[in-house]
Amino acid sequence: MESKNDISLTHINRIYRYMRSGMPIESFAEMFHYSLNEVNGIVELCNLYGKKISIVEEDGVLVFKKNSIKLPSTSKLDIDSPKLNHNEICVISDTHLGNIHQQLHLVNEIYEEAYHRGIDTVLHVGDLLDGNYLNRPESPRQQFLHGFDEQVGYVVDMYPKVNGITTYFILGSHDETHYKNGQSTPDKWISRCRDDMVYLGQDSGEIEISNVKTVLDHPGGGSAQSLSYKPQKRIEILESHSKPKLLLIGHYHKSYVFSYRNVQCVLVPALCDKTQFQQKQGLSNALGAYFLDIYSDQKGNIQYFEPEEVTFSKNDIWDEPGKDRARVRKLEIKD
Ligand SMILES: [Fe+2]
Ligand SMILES: [Fe+2]
Repeated sequence: MESKNDISLTHINRIYRYMRSGMPIESFAEMFHYSLNEVNGIVELCNLYGKKISIVEEDGVLVFKKNSIKLPSTSKLDIDSPKLNHNEICVISDTHLGNIHQQLHLVNEIYEEAYHRGIDTVLHVGDLLDGNYLNRPESPRQQFLHGFDEQVGYVVDMYPKVNGITTYFILGSHDETHYKNGQSTPDKWISRCRDDMVYLGQDSGEIEISNVKTVLDHPGGGSAQSLSYKPQKRIEILESHSKPKLLLIGHYHKSYVFSYRNVQCVLVPALCDKTQFQQKQGLSNALGAYFLDIYSDQKGNIQYFEPEEVTFSKNDIWDEPGKDRARVRKLEIKD
């Protein structure tokens, strides 16, 4: 992907977010003032960038069809059936607030997009804060917020607050350092001061979305060579009755979706730029988020699953250390 032009990628990402399965091509062309030939070109570019989309004819109308994971049992699926529950949720992770490489303005961008889509649930899969590792003496220089008070206070004051959206979060390895250092509890104070932020657990938490059992997981430890190896191992050790239908994994700062043993699994990318620690360890950093379209039956089985990855290009990232902290404003939407 590096060889491709960033300006096109930014453009494609933005355009791709507007495309919906079943959306008539003509309405899209009208909205963006494109000719039908130009729309064909955009679809080709999207595919080139790995965003699978095609144009198909439905009832005499040309519409977009987005790449999706349709489960095997659903060959006769009718997603308009009133028997199915439809939820669109947003999933983010690893914001590392307090680090000089934080990208709170991109977190804001995701929440704004979620608001425009009418989404009411955002799930945060841990490492909300950068924490305080006592065994990493280089850390303080990489942070503009030090210690529990400053980092938790920043979340309370600055984390996006959008009417109608509740953020459900777990705490990860970095957040936990505050507890390890002095039994300080970010979970209690954030939930107490922000009624739109609900704590689900340390390292792991569970939530039901229209009966769809969803587990948020922040494993800790090092990265595996294969993106799916560790999540697969994790699914294998779960008893069949306790298996989630949707497993969301933070911590790795990687982006990947796969289906294994009837569990839809998403490795959720980070919303923070590459840190010095990652640089030193030679770790890559995927920056982005997911919007998930989920159709489920009454028992909470997922019948149709469409993950939409949002990626950011170099132009979106404020990679000059400290720029985000200096320029970002709190996103607050009241209506
Ligand atoms: Fe992290
Ligand atoms: Fe982590």
